Amino acid sequence: MPKTFYLTTAIDYTNGPPHLGHAYEKVLADVIARYHRLKSDAVFFLTGVDQHGQKVQRSAEKVGIAPQQFVDELTTKFTGLWKKLEIEYDGWAATTEPLHKHCVQGMLQRLYEEGQIYKDKQEGYYSIRQEQFLTEKERGPDGEFGPEWGEVEHRVEENYYFRLAQHKDWLLGYLKNHPNCVTPAFRQIELINAVEKLTGDLCISRPKSRLSWGIELPFDREYVNYVWFDALTNYISFIGYDPSKKEFADQPDEFQEKWPALHIIGKDILVPAHGIYWPIMLHALGFPDDQMPSFLVHGWWNVSGAKMSKSLGNVIDPAALTDKYGAEALRYYLVETMILGQDSDFSEEQLVARYNAALANSIGNLLSRTLTMIWKYRGGKIGRIKDDDERLTACRKMIGMEIIGYLEACDGGKNEYASLPAHSVESAAHHTLMASWHANQLIEKTQPYKLAKNEDEAELLDAVLYTLAECLRIIAILLSSILPKAAHGIFDQLNWKMELSGKEERFSLDEAEWGRLPDGHVVGKPTPLFPRIESGLQNQATDSPAR
Ligand code: MSP
Repeated sequence: MPKTFYLTTAIDYTNGPPHLGHAYEKVLADVIARYHRLKSDAVFFLTGVDQHGQKVQRSAEKVGIAPQQFVDELTTKFTGLWKKLEIEYDGWAATTEPLHKHCVQGMLQRLYEEGQIYKDKQEGYYSIRQEQFLTEKERGPDGEFGPEWGEVEHRVEENYYFRLAQHKDWLLGYLKNHPNCVTPAFRQIELINAVEKLTGDLCISRPKSRLSWGIELPFDREYVNYVWFDALTNYISFIGYDPSKKEFADQPDEFQEKWPALHIIGKDILVPAHGIYWPIMLHALGFPDDQMPSFLVHGWWNVSGAKMSKSLGNVIDPAALTDKYGAEALRYYLVETMILGQDSDFSEEQLVARYNAALANSIGNLLSRTLTMIWKYRGGKIGRIKDDDERLTACRKMIGMEIIGYLEACDGGKNEYASLPAHSVESAAHHTLMASWHANQLIEKTQPYKLAKNEDEAELLDAVLYTLAECLRIIAILLSSILPKAAHGIFDQLNWKMELSGKEERFSLDEAEWGRLPDGHVVGKPTPLFPRIESGLQNQATDSPAR
């Protein structure tokens, strides 16, 4: 069965509108998905919304509408933003869909019948405001529960539990034998440390009297499922998992060809949800070790070193940023600025500065200068030069770390780009910018406007113009996973592959090979690709590829 590269992001809570963190995760996944499509891998990218739960129920009550209406309205904010940001997903997981509900109930029923789920009594202190049982950890230094918990009462409640602790040794062994399960590696170490401390089972229900906005337990209609078997299972329910089949080999083909997934998640939900509960749930459901998912764990966007939060009033709205600066500016900033796995501080000044430096000054300028010169000196037509032509050597000599040698040595940037360190999107951005920087250097060093004045230099001028156009064609391919719209813009202006205009197949890494533009090719007229943002926000960022 041919394997599809299957990637997912965490599904987003629909108890508030999307913020910058949500946008980052989606852009990151979209770039990775597009990068794989560029390499001609079959890709399936699933994302969606987490619509059940106490918080949603409470927020809907507050505004006096039904929870379904509440989540439907918020869901359109997410889908609208993904469209604006050109996020191209293949599947949409909304957890109130009947298909998901049936799948969740099927899994719960089977695990209950197999003795993996049991009923037990819970007794202890309960916070009415936060609607949860408290443990000794929640007591302050004075031995009391703090004011954040509101009124606290002693309670006895029966609930259903999943036998988590029974699988602790299996998970430890699995993680130790699969060191690449979590990227970056330090997160895997964190996870192993957390598993070592694991005690107790997982409460998976709430009595309906307390929470009604959830999926009913199939074996006890007085209860609804609480969080985990609803939220995490979307990753399999929406790609065709059949809960009635325990053997993985008996699962439908459409499911098997996609699974296992790469889950792209933030650092806050690795431990315990994705790193402990999820693999143990899958193991209990009968998934073999070679069918466990892997995790790409990104850091958080902060503002002036602080966490974004409603109470601090510093939540960054990605839709407003997109309206102000455009999707390309935001996508580029998010991808280029955050080093995968680490936290980053959001700065609007930096967003504008990087857009102007990397996109307007470097790539945009390269395109308009190149096309203008081709029209001015050669009536829009470029001449293909032979690979062993001495004029190429002359070009090479003229620039220190030469663009031609650079692109040729890595097969038009293809090999280097294809073997980037795991999911390192910021190096993809950097790599592309490097190519543009070298091409701009070629213009600085050869000064085509001087060459044009001297008949003896006509052939060298041809070589320079061809080189620049070819660089732009390759840059568009490399850029297409990060900035799809701009990549189309470059191809359009180069007048290249016009029959595929607007289609993703227009870009293929196989074509990032030196010398594909034919002799006599006529380019299009230049139009500004990345108009400069003149907002008075710019700082001293340079157009060098160094960060
Ligand atoms: N609904 C749960 C996930 C269930 S997955 C089975 C959830 N939702 S969330 O809306 O709170 O977060 C969605 C994703 O956004 C998570 O991966 C989370 O880490 C990420 N981010 C939330 N805030 C973030 C930042 N400030 N910065 C970057 N990503 C952040 O968790």
